[in-house]
Amino acid sequence: MKDILVIEGGQPLYGNVHISGAKNAGLVLIAASIMAEGETILDNVPRICDVEVMVQILNEMGVKAFWNEDDSLSIIPPATTVKTQTPYELAKKLRASNLFLGALLGRQGEAIVSLPGGCDIGSRPMDLHLKGAQALGADIDIEHGYIYARALQMHGSRVYLDFPSVGATENIMMMAVKTPGLSIIENAAKEPEIVDLANFLNSMGGKIRGAGTDLIKIEGVPVLNACRYTIIPDRIEAGTYMIAAAITGGEVLVENVIPTHLHPIVAKLQETGATVQETEQGLLVKGGQRILPADIKTLPYPGFPTDMQSQMMALLSLAEGTSVIVENVFENRFQIVDELKRMGAKIKLEGHSAIVEGTPSLYGARVKATDLRAGAALVLSALAARGETTIEEAIHIFRGYEDIETKLKSLGAKIK
Ligand code: EPU
Repeated sequence: MKDILVIEGGQPLYGNVHISGAKNAGLVLIAASIMAEGETILDNVPRICDVEVMVQILNEMGVKAFWNEDDSLSIIPPATTVKTQTPYELAKKLRASNLFLGALLGRQGEAIVSLPGGCDIGSRPMDLHLKGAQALGADIDIEHGYIYARALQMHGSRVYLDFPSVGATENIMMMAVKTPGLSIIENAAKEPEIVDLANFLNSMGGKIRGAGTDLIKIEGVPVLNACRYTIIPDRIEAGTYMIAAAITGGEVLVENVIPTHLHPIVAKLQETGATVQETEQGLLVKGGQRILPADIKTLPYPGFPTDMQSQMMALLSLAEGTSVIVENVFENRFQIVDELKRMGAKIKLEGHSAIVEGTPSLYGARVKATDLRAGAALVLSALAARGETTIEEAIHIFRGYEDIETKLKSLGAKIK
């Protein structure tokens, strides 16, 4: 796959765009599928690099995983045990590989999981995941870059999360779903992807209540039976295309979305002067005559998502006035700033805050995608900028956006 995107800016985007399945739901459901007996079939899985790496990890573990002609993904674990170790060379490529900790412990009481890689957006510790595993009866050792988790007998337990971590909540749900007794997660993450995982596990016979609130109760069941399940649409991909409409002053119908998942994004987009209208097919976004400044604070769901912070910064760098963006989730998510400045943005950093002084226009430049969402923000800036932008290390963007080139081209963007 080519690693460079070249965009000629200045074209307002018009048309319809179909949103793919959610990356972060797809990744965790793929991991959870190894706990089922029989063939799981997942529909609406996005064909993105991160998913392909998860599929490779499954194959290395001795789990059959393959794409069907109708684009669904089949996952068939063996009747006996799977390999309990995630291979470092693959695991280092994505943070979500840590989700095999919960899936493997839940399936067979043992997991050897490489300390994960993924986007360089902060220190991303695993303490809360491990706190959950220990509470449910696992012994943990960390050696040579691996987490060794073993349990002779897991048991239901209560776990309080100091922060509503998405990954820790998911891992503990997977550990607990087949563990005898009642497990309770307090201060659980409430993201839609957590609800999707609970719905998926419940479709297989799991007993999970309260997903989507901060108190999740899981009653262990002895067996999960494989099912066919459709993954929710990707709210971050949807938000990115909504900003594409706003930043170029175009009009885009974003199809296949769950509007409630997008409320925090819609609210902020409207503050910047864009019009967002809910229709039967999706959300119709119209760019305003002017882009207005807005202040943003990233927070766990239903707060404004950290995964949309960089894209919003791209939009606000063209606003008529000054905006303040506070990043509360990942400390390193401002690497985008230096790249945006290369395109003429005026942004100052003060600790966890970015002060974005809007400028009337951006210009094309040679820039580098430092992580997935920073890459998406550069695409947005490039679409609005005067002249040509070359985005290097675009592989980060392909990790999370299915067919981005085709989708943007169909809206009239000049991208290759
Ligand atoms: N944290 C801890 N200890 C832990 C776990 C997390 O201190 O044991 C902290 C992190 O350092 C961070 C905060 O908690 O400051 C939030 O991390 P969280 O665990 O919620 O994030 P994650 O599970 O690693 C998922 C998504 C991210 C998304 C975050 C927040 C997946 C595969 N990744 O990561 O998605 O930003 O939740 O919503 O689900 C992306 O798609 O671009 C992306 C990075």
